[in-house]
Amino acid sequence: MLELRLNKLITEDVLKGYEKQVNEINKVIKNKTGAGNDFLGWVDWPVNYDKDELNRIIKDAKYVRDNFDVLVVCGIGGSYLGARSALEALNGLKSPDKLEIIFMGQTFSPNYVAQVMKYLEDKNFAINVISKSGTTTETSISFRLLKELLEKKVGKEKARKAIFATTDKEKGALKTLATQEGYVTYVLPGDIGGRYSVFTAVGTFALACAGVDVEALIKGARDARSEIQDKPLKDNLCYQYAVMRDYMYRHNKPVEMYVTYEPQMSQISEWLKQLFGESEGKEHKGLYPSSATFSTDLHSLGQYIQDGTPLLFETIINVLNPKDDIVIPHDNEDLDGLNYLEGKNLAFVNQKAFEGTLKAHEDGGVPCNVIYLDKLDAYNLGYLFYFFMRACAMSAYMLDINPFNQPGVEVYKKNMFHLLGKKGY
Ligand code: PA5
Repeated sequence: MLELRLNKLITEDVLKGYEKQVNEINKVIKNKTGAGNDFLGWVDWPVNYDKDELNRIIKDAKYVRDNFDVLVVCGIGGSYLGARSALEALNGLKSPDKLEIIFMGQTFSPNYVAQVMKYLEDKNFAINVISKSGTTTETSISFRLLKELLEKKVGKEKARKAIFATTDKEKGALKTLATQEGYVTYVLPGDIGGRYSVFTAVGTFALACAGVDVEALIKGARDARSEIQDKPLKDNLCYQYAVMRDYMYRHNKPVEMYVTYEPQMSQISEWLKQLFGESEGKEHKGLYPSSATFSTDLHSLGQYIQDGTPLLFETIINVLNPKDDIVIPHDNEDLDGLNYLEGKNLAFVNQKAFEGTLKAHEDGGVPCNVIYLDKLDAYNLGYLFYFFMRACAMSAYMLDINPFNQPGVEVYKKNMFHLLGKKGY
């Protein structure tokens, strides 16, 4: 569950002015009658999800935890960011878990790919390859390399039992390969696009392998759905957030900056940037989603945010109770002058940094919105993901945009394929 404090430009009158439009669009989302309506499977997925598959995923995840030291998750974009962001947010950046999770398939970087391949040479590893289309080049190249390495290390038969494929139910190159090789497969449903897929096997298999309570994650989404589904705008935090975004867009604030005070949430910002950027950035419209991690970035971007071109507003995700904390010790000499903080914990200092920064930025004219989360666990994260997905659909429909396609992404691919000499380009 979360609390929302909107910036002070969003008055009751502003909200009232949006009521009718929001009600109409909510109906369009619920009844699946809007643009891209064949990609609205995610709306009811927290209720309608495939229970048998989830049970299978939980069982297979135990097998992976019991039999391997490393799981390589191979995917990009929506087939990558959900699992990566949830994993870091929930387990931290220095997770001591016995199963190490490594991501590959999200880059052509020769440095990164070669380093991971070298690292895996003497590791007992399994692979989860994720691609809805089955033809994404970054993922396909990485998977070809990983498969070859694994087969060389353990032989074709054992490799088959260590490869888990998440893809379309019926079609695509990965589906054909997985069927031919006899891999365990999970389904990315046809009516759910990548960036809306974190609650499907795309997110849940890797997360279950990492020991995350994926049923709690989905329950969080389910509760968010029932909260958002039928509430009037005056009580509906999700749609109030979407209204705020639309209002900012139409009042000369074209950039939304997602802010967290937790480095382990920086990938959540990456997930948000993909969700909103790829859903809304069409027909020369849409807010530009950006992100910062405070207080770190206050020492780089802070100056611009406070005094630079006034084009942005902030959406801060503030987690009130961190899982871990540490107390600042006493020092007899006090040469660093920090004894005034002795006995205080870092959560307190981080919170004061948040309060001081909020006041500074608001006094400087930056509209700031705050989402308060009590704590970051699987349930709350599921709630948060769904909250943003639903807000994103509402926001895009307010701009009269189809939130579920990404025609612009194809342009770079065509050029690249031409330059690489692919047949037909
Ligand atoms: O959100 C999306 O649809 C995209 O980011 C895709 O997830 C991404 O391009 C990967 O596609 P695929 O799963 O087909 O490999």
